[in-house]
Amino acid sequence: MKRILVTGGAGFLGSHLCETLLGQGNEVLCVDNFFTGSKRNVEHLMSNPAFELMRHDVMFPLYVEVDEIYNLACPASPVHYQYDPVQTTKTSVHGAINMLGLAKRVGAKILQASTSEVYGDPEVHPQPESYWGRVNPIGVRSCYDEGKRCAETLFFDYWRQHQIQIRVVRIFNTYGPRMHPDDGRVVSNFIVQALRGEPITIYGDGTQTRSFCYVDDLIEAMIRMMAKDCAGPINIGNPGEFTMLELAQRVLELTGSKSEIVFFPLPADDPRQRRPDISVAKQVLGWEPKIALDEGLIRTIRYFERVT
Ligand SMILES: NC(=O)c1ccc[n+]([C@@H]2O[C@H](COP(=O)([O-])OP(=O)(O)OC[C@H]3O[C@@H](n4cnc5c(N)ncnc54)[C@H](O)[C@@H]3O)[C@@H](O)[C@H]2O)c1
Repeated sequence: MKRILVTGGAGFLGSHLCETLLGQGNEVLCVDNFFTGSKRNVEHLMSNPAFELMRHDVMFPLYVEVDEIYNLACPASPVHYQYDPVQTTKTSVHGAINMLGLAKRVGAKILQASTSEVYGDPEVHPQPESYWGRVNPIGVRSCYDEGKRCAETLFFDYWRQHQIQIRVVRIFNTYGPRMHPDDGRVVSNFIVQALRGEPITIYGDGTQTRSFCYVDDLIEAMIRMMAKDCAGPINIGNPGEFTMLELAQRVLELTGSKSEIVFFPLPADDPRQRRPDISVAKQVLGWEPKIALDEGLIRTIRYFERVT
């Protein structure tokens, strides 16, 4: 049995990760400041004696004994990370320093939940890990993008300088149950709007594309990555590419909603296209996503029907 720390464990991805790690017989310490996460996301785990929940902000050092650390603490949706951008950068950078310091002290392996946003608005499609990205350093998304880039830098410098066992995964759009209903991310947005019978809001003309990975596929890849002797970075996502208009139409069909589609101007620095090249994940982790968009959407719609 391993003792595993999950920062941001009460958030969307973190709560699924805690659940899976517990299911595999590990002890899990979930650390969260509840900025975007909530106790509700992990309340079904509370009665498990192998689970512990701690309110803590990763901007401050943490002294615990663990074998592995998954560092997920960071608001992930533009609405949340732009709410207090200075705090967002601090969470990424100070959080990485504190968790790497902990890994160094106790000799733990540490995985960073990085992001496809490190590629910015890319000129290369799909994006391989070797692509350095095209990020605006002073825009409204920079607190997140540059914060995550700096965190990656710290991980690789701790690795080179202190021989810490690091793992870096670059996560592309992931969706599923326990996403925030009002965080502005496109899948939850469309589903909630469709279920409420409100207009479905598309920013831009709807031809910009995204790829969507179902949460269970992502969690499996993260756990495989931790077990591999490979620092990464490795892209994790679903290479299936859909336009916003196609996504809206799938959601309308699967919910049976009569909502109309309305168009608004594209926000600043919004990438036109985003799709992972997952050849490294296939080769190194023997992983590729299994859950098709319709199946994942159905599971997510069922969740939102219960909670909204
Ligand atoms: N969901 C995605 O599509 C996606 C894509 C790329 C990267 N990621 C990364 O995965 C991680 C989890 O994302 P998510 O989608 O679950 O988002 P989320 O907002 O649901 O989860 C983030 C969690 O971190 C916690 N948190 C934020 N600041 C903190 C701090 N200073 N100290 C302690 N806890 C803090 C929040 O309360 C929340 O529980 C993030 O690091 C995010 O950048 C997610």
